[in-house]
Amino acid sequence: MDFFKRVSLLLFIVSILFDSTSGSSVLLERAQELEFTDWMIGIRRRLHENPELGYEEFETSKLIRKELDSMGIEYKHPFAVTGIVGFIGTGKAPFVGLRADMDALPIQESVEWEHKSKVPGKMHACGHDAHVTMLLGAAKILQERKSEIQGTVVLIFQPAEEGGGGAKRMIDEGAVQNIDAIFGFHITGAFPVGTVASRPGPIMAGSGFFEAVITGKGGHAAIPQHTIDPIIAASNVVVSLQHLISREADPLDSQVLTVAKFQGGGAFNVIPDSVTIGGTFRAFSKESFMQLRQRIEEVIVRQASVQRCNATVDFLSYTHPFSPPTTNNPFLHTHFQKVASDIVGPANVIEVQPVMGSEDFAFFSDAVPATHYYFVGMRTDSDGHSTSVHSPFFTINEAALSYGAALHASLALNYLSEFGVNLSNTVNVDAAYDEL
Ligand SMILES: *[C@@H]1O[C@H](CO)[C@@H](O)[C@H](O)[C@H]1NC(C)=O
Ligand SMILES: *[C@@H]1O[C@H](CO)[C@@H](O)[C@H](O)[C@H]1NC(C)=O
Ligand SMILES: [Zn+2]
Ligand SMILES: [Zn+2]
Repeated sequence: MDFFKRVSLLLFIVSILFDSTSGSSVLLERAQELEFTDWMIGIRRRLHENPELGYEEFETSKLIRKELDSMGIEYKHPFAVTGIVGFIGTGKAPFVGLRADMDALPIQESVEWEHKSKVPGKMHACGHDAHVTMLLGAAKILQERKSEIQGTVVLIFQPAEEGGGGAKRMIDEGAVQNIDAIFGFHITGAFPVGTVASRPGPIMAGSGFFEAVITGKGGHAAIPQHTIDPIIAASNVVVSLQHLISREADPLDSQVLTVAKFQGGGAFNVIPDSVTIGGTFRAFSKESFMQLRQRIEEVIVRQASVQRCNATVDFLSYTHPFSPPTTNNPFLHTHFQKVASDIVGPANVIEVQPVMGSEDFAFFSDAVPATHYYFVGMRTDSDGHSTSVHSPFFTINEAALSYGAALHASLALNYLSEFGVNLSNTVNVDAAYDEL
């Protein structure tokens, strides 16, 4: 008994010592030093001027590798065409992952400023330029504290978050092998700069797409008896689909089904041969999601047949892979709350409601034992109604960069020091990336 008491006292002292040298707030102070923020802002603006779409992030990838080289951080490249996986620490288990996405959107920037996108029709309108910068900032902080890292931090720069399934391809190509836990983030104008937000459990919905072709028999619009009208059939399909959420889903289990596309016909006096409809569906559990998917297909095919039409349903799984729900491991969320409270103060750690939007980060939940996703606030008092992501008027508050960098770094560093010992019992201690 006495022995154990002494051991725990020793551990307590060690933890105090540890806190005093690398407590999370120290990491934020480092990230907020003028020379550090200038460096981050410079990177973010260069990225912003040269946006690249999914799987085309060649210059972005080159810039990241140049920065990693100058910091002396080892990495592997390419994963998923342009992706990069960097390593800081012992090169041995346990491994903890930090992720940033790199792609821009096919949007023409409408913000007039010095560092406006130089590429017509492309813009970093979702803040992934800030995400790359924050992960590089975290890398710099971690590299400076390399000797304290009790395991390996894996830096994951992934392509094609915006519907291209970049995370899935990174996983398929081995980017997360042996990783025990992974953290992802997104910048948001919904909360003030200096705050962070997350929740345990589901935080973003799973998402899927569908497209259906409803086929009848075209003909003269004034002689309907000689036709099989797909417009009427498709209209009934759209109405019947509405009942899946209103009548079949549990009202307390949030789901969405939207028909966003309806195409058919082109003349006032011609009944077309076919109509194409399409849309998206969202749910927070795999079960609800698969149930909805099955019913969408049944309702489209059977409702179309009521009006003598045939229908085929395509879930576009090759071009638009299903994205699972993004679910936060409760244990990692507790860790996040603790680390984030140290950095921004408990009052600035916000618990959010889940949103129906989806995140490619969700793919990591199938491949990594524990995942956690959070939001980094960037709103200032002056932009009370900050423009939303995917808008041509979207702007980044660069004051938020330091928070994302410090938090990502601190989540990884503290995760390894607090839980690493236990993890090494459960994973193969020799498990290491081939080249380390
Ligand atoms: C529907 O499919 C059946 C079986 O292939 C075919 O006989 C029928 O003509 C089709 N109906 C229409 C409206 O395309
Ligand atoms: C580590 O493992 C021990 C023994 O299984 C357990 O009592 C302890 O709670 C674990 N610590 C953490 C931080 O998971
Ligand atoms: Zn986006
Ligand atoms: Zn985004």
